Amino acid sequence: MKLERVLKSKGNWGRREVRLRLSRGEVRVDGAVVRDGQLLLSPFATVECGDRVLSQKTPRYLMLHKPLGVVSATVDEEHETVIDLIAEPWAGELHLAGRLDRFTSGLVVLTNDGRFSEALTRPEQKVGKVYHVCCDGPLLAEMRETLQQGMWLAKEGVTTQPAQVESLSDYEHRLTIYEGKHHQVKRMFAHFGLKVVALHREAMGPLRLDGSLALGHWRFLTEDELSAVFKLIINSGREFAKTGEVGL
Ligand code: URA
Repeated sequence: MKLERVLKSKGNWGRREVRLRLSRGEVRVDGAVVRDGQLLLSPFATVECGDRVLSQKTPRYLMLHKPLGVVSATVDEEHETVIDLIAEPWAGELHLAGRLDRFTSGLVVLTNDGRFSEALTRPEQKVGKVYHVCCDGPLLAEMRETLQQGMWLAKEGVTTQPAQVESLSDYEHRLTIYEGKHHQVKRMFAHFGLKVVALHREAMGPLRLDGSLALGHWRFLTEDELSAVFKLIINSGREFAKTGEVGL
């Protein structure tokens, strides 16, 4: 967003007043005087005018251990949401970096930083999501092969990226997939006539659910976890630059 716009809306000033304040050197962005109203602000810039703070947003990144029965949404009229589990005044600013369905437990990542959530969810990023899957019948060798080769999802008209399957027993598997389609794991198993009776997300890319987080609890991501995801952002910027697409 342009600085001029923030000054107009948060300061409640008209164009002339905004120009005057800028030219007088009253406006600061992240502590430095700025006179150019066309300046493009980063989402977390602090904008001040005189002794007034006009805009300030703290970036927040957290992981939550989602219990069964809670919905991955910011609002829901019927059910408890993951946001309801975060008793903080800023919880309403958050959005999800990838959802889990109501009857899936495990790792959910929340943030108020769109670049961060995009890095984890853009299909082009091919971020692996690791699930612990319990199903109601044995996964046969040819089924495992189909998963590993990639399978057609008719609803979306896409073939999945080759998945990784580690069988812990005939009925229990660790599956890594690289998309986040609606009910994807359950649909992949349903293709073989198998019902998923329990599903739990263990990891997303470099983020692994903290084993010490009780169901329904959350914590902020650590510096190491953040830098692992920011590396994805930097790398995808390089990819964009190579292909000539608009970067993040
Ligand atoms: N696949 C599913 O079926 N459900 C989820 O919540 C995530 C992946």
